[in-house]
Amino acid sequence: MGNIMKGILLAGGSGTRLHPATAVISKQLLPVYDKPMVYYPLSTLMLAGIREVMLISTPHDLPLFEQLLGDGSAWGMELTYAEQPRPEGIAQALLIARDWLDGEGCCLILGDNLFYGHGLTPALRAAADQSDGATVFGYQVTDPQRYGVLELSPSGAPVSIEEKPQSPKSSWAVVGLYFYDRMAPDIAAAIRPSQRGELEISDVNRTYLERGALRAEKLGRGIAWLDTGTHESLLEAANFIRAVQHRQGMAVACLEEIAYKMGWIGLDRLRSKASEWRNSDYGNQLRRVVDEAATP
Ligand code: TTP
Repeated sequence: MGNIMKGILLAGGSGTRLHPATAVISKQLLPVYDKPMVYYPLSTLMLAGIREVMLISTPHDLPLFEQLLGDGSAWGMELTYAEQPRPEGIAQALLIARDWLDGEGCCLILGDNLFYGHGLTPALRAAADQSDGATVFGYQVTDPQRYGVLELSPSGAPVSIEEKPQSPKSSWAVVGLYFYDRMAPDIAAAIRPSQRGELEISDVNRTYLERGALRAEKLGRGIAWLDTGTHESLLEAANFIRAVQHRQGMAVACLEEIAYKMGWIGLDRLRSKASEWRNSDYGNQLRRVVDEAATP
């Protein structure tokens, strides 16, 4: 197991770009093809080896997440829940989770960030193994001005981070997945809200950078980082997941499969879920995993 054992899954926000689809329900509860969006970031945390997760959402949506995911025992995990009364910035998650973190480092993932592809798990494990400093991931995009933008030196070291710059210094966007040592809540407590009134995660990352404690890893072309913030991108993400699952017969973000492969649950648990959900594709995929595991 890595040094970082706790994860924060931030699944609040207002989802205004998806209205009216998100008028009465959180974006992260909408389906991406065959499963709720929140399954995907939860699977990413699991692949990083993280079993203890705090899910943060709005007071309105939090009970729905609890209903969906429970205490995590279905996957041999421990899930806890906390409210973010208003969407006052991503860095606020570190303050909300402060007591729960109890002086430990953490991985923070945004509930609408989907990752899939070759080389992802080793990159996650390597970041979770670090005990000091912070790790962010860069992904090359055509529209960097929409994101936090990472400027890298020729050797790949981070030089600057700017939040939604008008003239981006590179095409490397910072993705919504961050690994922090135990200093992160203190750093978040020291930053001030930005002009748009949010505690910016880029300000936390910049503090690590200024202290010489920020690592930046590039996510290569083998990894898909999917956006789900607009109707168009949500549909594209669903089509991508559908294509992978149909072409390869591989389940993406099948939580029971991952938990089983991590050794957190037994085959009996897979079997009972497969039978409970036998009417759905998800259940059928679980059945395939059970059959594969049962054949030597
Ligand atoms: P955003 O895309 O910045 O915002 P949003 O989800 O509210 O959507 P929109 O722009 O359509 O209004 O959020 C990125 C992710 O972070 C998303 O998963 C929601 C989450 N988030 C919070 O949970 N709390 C916050 O305070 C912020 C800013 C974001």
